[in-house]
Amino acid sequence: MARHRVGIWLVGARGSVATASIVGLVALQKGWTGDVGLVSRLPVFQHLPLSPWQDFCVAGHDIRATSLVESASQLSADRGALDPQLVKRCQRELTAIDRRICQGTVLHVGETIADLAAPEVRRRRESPWEAVRRLQADMQQFVKQEQLKQLVVVHLASTEPPFDLGQLPATWPDMERMLQKRATQRLSLPASSLYAIAALDLGYPYINFTPSLGAAPPAIQQLAQLRETCHMGCDGKTGETLVKTVLAPMFANRHLDVMSWVGHNIFGNMDARVLDDPQNKSSKVVTKDRVLGSILGYAPQTLVSIENIASLGDWKTAWDHIHFRGFLGTPMTMQFVWQGCDSLLAAPLVLDLVRFTWYAWQRGDRGLLTFLASFFKHPLGVAEHDFGRQFQMLAEWAQRSTV
Ligand SMILES: NC(=O)c1ccc[n+]([C@@H]2O[C@H](COP(=O)([O-])OP(=O)(O)OC[C@H]3O[C@@H](n4cnc5c(N)ncnc54)[C@H](O)[C@@H]3O)[C@@H](O)[C@H]2O)c1
Repeated sequence: MARHRVGIWLVGARGSVATASIVGLVALQKGWTGDVGLVSRLPVFQHLPLSPWQDFCVAGHDIRATSLVESASQLSADRGALDPQLVKRCQRELTAIDRRICQGTVLHVGETIADLAAPEVRRRRESPWEAVRRLQADMQQFVKQEQLKQLVVVHLASTEPPFDLGQLPATWPDMERMLQKRATQRLSLPASSLYAIAALDLGYPYINFTPSLGAAPPAIQQLAQLRETCHMGCDGKTGETLVKTVLAPMFANRHLDVMSWVGHNIFGNMDARVLDDPQNKSSKVVTKDRVLGSILGYAPQTLVSIENIASLGDWKTAWDHIHFRGFLGTPMTMQFVWQGCDSLLAAPLVLDLVRFTWYAWQRGDRGLLTFLASFFKHPLGVAEHDFGRQFQMLAEWAQRSTV
């Protein structure tokens, strides 16, 4: 396949996951790091003509008045989530990328997220449609300036409160008409969906790594089809839920009866602070909780808690207690503790998703990229939650992709 320069547009570009992804990309481009943690580097994908890291160029949107260097320094100060030497070596590239980060929108994100925004972002008065047009102009400017063949948009912004799909028009023409009516305040689409519309309307693939609404509404999924582009989400599967979807099939396949599954999550970065708002938290708890019933075929009693414990920073601990019944009804218990550095678990997946998505788009895959299910807690359009089977879907897609 011919080589092209490809853009990665990160929404939430100065957040922890975005910063770790950018530092990771720079380190890979310079040959300063190996490929541990990168799924796309597994032998099963080596026959695919995936683009080398050097072909990618980053920009994005954010709402806060900070810098990438500051975010990276914070991650390295946070008990070495990033190596301070590496941050220093990447400083020139981070500063250059920072100049390409534009002001995002806080339309319908809820107070907790809006409070993070710089005053000028909060003060901006625009309709949802005007916001979409402005976000598109930023993306197009980057594509033009850097002479990019395509742009892959990845949503990495703070988790928005849940949204009731019932209020939305079912088709893209109806949704577009409503958006264009300036006076329409009833169509209060959250920012994540405005970014999705901005990207997909221009034919750019859109990946939602967060539990926010994004491209989930049927009308926006239809837009992706109409513009012959692709998308996938939502909510990256990086830690506790990853382990859950590996363990639950074991209980199911040994015919053990899971009576209850309790998961307590504690961490203390900015994501945790946003999730401390019960509204924002409920979006996350839903995606973390729904996997078990689907794998086991019945619904054990479950509890998922997420607490903000500031001293832990980016280091998340999940403690899970699984109470199950074996032969002759004998009760037994399994417990596990997962301690991971949240952003460093997520960053390689973001890079893998971009690489796979860009290749899929080149191959002609359109609409939902269901073969990417193993990357998500709530894979759109996929009922399968068993991690092993989801990974098989990816491997089979790669086999079919042999050129
Ligand atoms: N392992 C993981 O870290 C993991 C796993 C799955 C999902 N996620 C999700 O990924 C997202 C990012 O996580 P994080 O740890 O980087 O969070 P973070 O709080 O460090 O970063 C979020 C960034 O988004 C920006 N932002 C917020 N609203 C925005 C908007 N409307 N437009 C543009 N920018 C906006 C913030 O200013 C911030 O820079 C969260 O939604 C999180 O739940 C993370």
